[in-house]
Amino acid sequence: MPRNIVVIFGASNILWMVFAVSQNVKVEIFPEDKMIAQIGDSASLTCSAPDCESSLSFSWRTQIDSPLNGKVKTNGTRSTLVMNPVSFENEHSYLCTVSCGNKGERGIQVEIYSFPKDPEIHWSSLPEVGKPVTVRCLVPDVYPVEKLEIELLKDNHSMVSQNFLELIDIKSKETKSLEFTFTPTEEDIGKAIVCQATLIIDGQPSVKTTPEKMQVYISPKDPVISVNPSTSLQEGDSVMMTCTSEGLPAPQISWSKKLDNGDQQLLSGNATLTLIAMRMEDSGIYVCEGVNPVGTNRKEVELTVQVAPRDTTISVNPSSTLEEGSSVNMTCSSDGFPAPKILWSKKLRDGNLEPLSENTTLTLTSTKMEDSGIYVCEGINQAGINRKEVELIIQAAPKDLQLTAFPSESVKEGDTVIISCTCGNVPPTLIILKKKAETGDTVLKSTDGAYTIHRARLADAGVYECESKNEIGLQLRSITLDVKGRESNKDYFSSELLVLYCASSLIIPAIGVIIYFARKANMRGSYSLVDAQKSKV
Ligand SMILES: *[C@@H]1O[C@H](CO)[C@@H](O)[C@H](O)[C@H]1NC(C)=O
Ligand SMILES: *[C@@H]1O[C@H](CO)[C@@H](O)[C@H](O)[C@H]1NC(C)=O
Ligand SMILES: *[C@@H]1O[C@H](CO)[C@@H](O)[C@H](O)[C@H]1NC(C)=O
Ligand SMILES: *[C@@H]1O[C@H](CO)[C@@H](O)[C@H](O)[C@H]1NC(C)=O
Ligand SMILES: *[C@@H]1O[C@H](CO)[C@@H](O)[C@H](O)[C@H]1NC(C)=O
Repeated sequence: MPRNIVVIFGASNILWMVFAVSQNVKVEIFPEDKMIAQIGDSASLTCSAPDCESSLSFSWRTQIDSPLNGKVKTNGTRSTLVMNPVSFENEHSYLCTVSCGNKGERGIQVEIYSFPKDPEIHWSSLPEVGKPVTVRCLVPDVYPVEKLEIELLKDNHSMVSQNFLELIDIKSKETKSLEFTFTPTEEDIGKAIVCQATLIIDGQPSVKTTPEKMQVYISPKDPVISVNPSTSLQEGDSVMMTCTSEGLPAPQISWSKKLDNGDQQLLSGNATLTLIAMRMEDSGIYVCEGVNPVGTNRKEVELTVQVAPRDTTISVNPSSTLEEGSSVNMTCSSDGFPAPKILWSKKLRDGNLEPLSENTTLTLTSTKMEDSGIYVCEGINQAGINRKEVELIIQAAPKDLQLTAFPSESVKEGDTVIISCTCGNVPPTLIILKKKAETGDTVLKSTDGAYTIHRARLADAGVYECESKNEIGLQLRSITLDVKGRESNKDYFSSELLVLYCASSLIIPAIGVIIYFARKANMRGSYSLVDAQKSKV
């Protein structure tokens, strides 16, 4: 029973001996000698003995009697071993034995591999001009890795390649990757990055490539803002602000306003922001932001909405009418934005203003009559001026009141007499000249305190009184005018005059009248309201 025949299987260094029976039944296997199958796929081996016609039997074995890891289907002169799915356990040499009276055998080597997917390209970050980036080519689930080569190409030029000649104890699918770090330039925009994986299967290279058009980014540059017409606006104005920022891809522009609490309120997703009918509250910091996938850049612009000064008010303490020598505080306020500056001035005779103070309160101490006049407060800012006036009246109690008769207090009938009253510190308009009489005082029409009696008559004789009065006080002076008749040189105390006064007087007794006339000289009758008030306190 000569048994010989030695079959050596290709790459697997495995010696397998086939003992063919002497009867030499011819056995065929498909595929012949070797089968290459991918893990996970379905594969089958078919064994047949075409020369046998009857009483056929098949048997399948593996080289070291490990499990077949497949299903056998026999029909007539054929037997099929189906491996579904192919796994590491199918990497064996298989032997098919046929017997139909005589016997025959045939062996076959099953080789497996795994190379199921295209390589994947991964970036450490988005490729940005000027910033180093690592590109990684990843090849998943490869077996056997010692037959794998990975290469990374940019613009058809190899950047890096690698083989994976490692000793692996346990059969397994491996995921391998290759990295390359470089700094993209603007020239790299749109260039091709190719990841290429090559697995040698049955001595032949099997290549899978993944190309990618390089997306190169440029982070948003400093935004440029243009403001039309100006960042300084008046209430009611409109403003248009446009913002641009360069970058790749073109940054998305947005506008927002900074709130007091530090937050931002989004106003527009457009490059142009238009604000109409601006109000004071619209003043503030506006922010333009340019955003693209690799960055953000922002710029701020401050808008000021000015409000012309208005509602200027003056308060005078204690009063706008004062006694000479006292002090007064005049305080001014004015609304507006930005807050108006205050300017106090005094109106001069010619209408011009004499600036006095930029303080809100104007204080006058120890006022004099000359301080009387019109004071003007102006609220001033860039947007305008608003003014308010107050009249200050400084008064003094009348003093130095003098009443005279010219040429004399004793005249003759037919003479011309001028009764004249002057006051040192009160205008003549505040002087009242009267003639006293029992029937009631007569106010005389005086000019500048002077009253002229043309051709004096006896009836013009009597008591003349001058009064000067204002809010502060009162002064009185009186004189007695004596008119002598031309014909009869009558006595001063003429019986005629005495009878006239005695007869007409109901109130004053005759003796009183005599004393009254006896007090021919100036009556010093001065009365001050102010003094009276002070004494009451
Ligand atoms: C066996 O093979 C014959 C001819 O090839 C075919 O007609 C028959 O259907 C097969 N039987 C089975 C069970 O596969
Ligand atoms: C890269 O090379 C291949 C062939 O090697 C060629 O077909 C292709 O046009 C080249 N691509 C570029 C961008 O040069
Ligand atoms: C502003 O953007 C919005 C969408 O965000 C759009 O509907 C509108 O037309 C844009 N306006 C202008 C003036 O561009
Ligand atoms: C004016 O203001 C000053 C400071 O407030 C105060 O001391 C003074 O009494 C005020 N004068 C008058 C007349 O109100
Ligand atoms: C304004 O006020 C300051 C301090 O209150 C004072 O020193 C200054 O003299 C005032 N100026 C005028 C012009 O009143």
